[in-house]
Amino acid sequence: MRQQIDISAEESAKQLQFAHLLKERLDTKRQALGRDLTYHIETFGCQMNAKDSEKLAGILETIGYKETEDENADIVLYNTCTVRENANNRVYGRVGFLGKLKKKKPDMKIILCGCMMQEQHVVEKIKSSYRFVDIIFGTHNIYKLAELLYEQENSDGMCIDIQKDADRIVENLPSARKYSFKGGVNIMYGCNNFCSYCIVPYVRGRERSRRPDDILQEIREMTENGVSEIMLLGQNVNSYGHGLEESINFAGLLEKVCRIDKVKRVRFMTPHPKDLTDDIIEVIAREPKVCNHVHLPLQSGSSRLLKLMNRHYTKEDYLALTERIKAGIPGVSLTTDIIVGFPGETEEDFEETLDVVKKVRFSSAFTFIYSKRTGTPAAKMPDQVPEEVVKKRFDRLLKTISDISAEITEEAVGNIENVLVEEKSSQGEGYVTGRLANNLLVHFKGDESLLGSYVDVKLLEAKGFYYIGEIFS
Ligand code: SAH
Ligand code: SF4
Ligand code: F3S
Repeated sequence: MRQQIDISAEESAKQLQFAHLLKERLDTKRQALGRDLTYHIETFGCQMNAKDSEKLAGILETIGYKETEDENADIVLYNTCTVRENANNRVYGRVGFLGKLKKKKPDMKIILCGCMMQEQHVVEKIKSSYRFVDIIFGTHNIYKLAELLYEQENSDGMCIDIQKDADRIVENLPSARKYSFKGGVNIMYGCNNFCSYCIVPYVRGRERSRRPDDILQEIREMTENGVSEIMLLGQNVNSYGHGLEESINFAGLLEKVCRIDKVKRVRFMTPHPKDLTDDIIEVIAREPKVCNHVHLPLQSGSSRLLKLMNRHYTKEDYLALTERIKAGIPGVSLTTDIIVGFPGETEEDFEETLDVVKKVRFSSAFTFIYSKRTGTPAAKMPDQVPEEVVKKRFDRLLKTISDISAEITEEAVGNIENVLVEEKSSQGEGYVTGRLANNLLVHFKGDESLLGSYVDVKLLEAKGFYYIGEIFS
């Protein structure tokens, strides 16, 4: 572990040197063109990918590139996701469009990275059908962006650098956060669970926890720069701590984060039901800073399918766990992920899922149609469910979830809630959007000066998944 950290300090210094060399070149270009050079990053995946994009943006900004809203930029970088087939298709479509843009602007650089690039067949396809792409790299070496840009400028061809697995955790590179007042912090990388449908362990590598001191240091620095809400990120946050020299688990880490003065709210994503121990429930209940929201992926309510999915819990385990969470954390909001149409899913299996949804009463849920991922065990399972059957079940599930969400949000109308004001509202001019501790949103009258602050809001009207409210003073 020690040795890994030393290597990483050396590596960060090396990357900053590349950034510095590129900065000198960029200054010359800027003067010749009489304008700033720009970048645009598009994130296709989950919160982990979004966090990687912030790191990539940090490197580009260190070099001197300025962010722009659309693909009309000097560097366009797509940070891809491959968790479901439609995520891949969206990327191919957009890359084709970039090729046309590049015909008009030959100096533009196109960079592809992220989870899709860890799959060999994807890289082969890009090499043969999208020759105009300049740089391809994967999930394990995002810290090398400056070096790869430097190499590509000196070679003129397509530069490809994919590592099969992660060999190091590189700390201390710059990061450009999307919001100034809230931010995600990786506490671990990778996943060891190998749920049978899921590609993530293959493209993100084995689970590696970051050292607690590095995590706490990053959070302290973020709070010095104005961040008050922290989201702890990992594919299975509650298995945090395995393999570290220090003896620490997720509950212990949560407590340490709460001890940082300027941290006002702590969230985390994603816990796995099999590892959600009672000490975690106790910390959430005891520490006022930890938000009373648990996102707890169910995937299926059928114990038979859960076994085939390799989830390591039964329907009864999940129900008992949510009961313990509700009893331990008064007013807790539970949300979930559900997959419909896993191979062999029968009407009875699906009804078990509906039954859990009705019993737990989730505040909201992300629902996904099963997508076959080549290389995962489920891709070879018999009885893939016909599309029309899946579609009908999916619609029934959505209806059940949204009816329950509507009832739950309705129950809180009239309450006064402390919210973090996050952005100007899409509801119209003069409105802003705040996030409740339970993760629901409320739109209310207010101006931009409120962004990043905490205000009390009275919930006036429930609109299914969100509220209309007014400032309470
Ligand atoms: N580590 C997290 C998130 C993984 S990806 C977890 O365990 O929940 C987010 C969600 O995508 C998963 O929870 C799952 O519901 C969904 N998902 C993953 N693979 C999928 C697949 N092959 N088809 C459909 N949905 C999938
Ligand atoms: Fe995928 Fe399962 Fe790991 Fe989540 S816990 S990333 S669903 S393998
Ligand atoms: Fe997608 Fe990779 Fe996240 S596959 S869901 S971006 S870890």
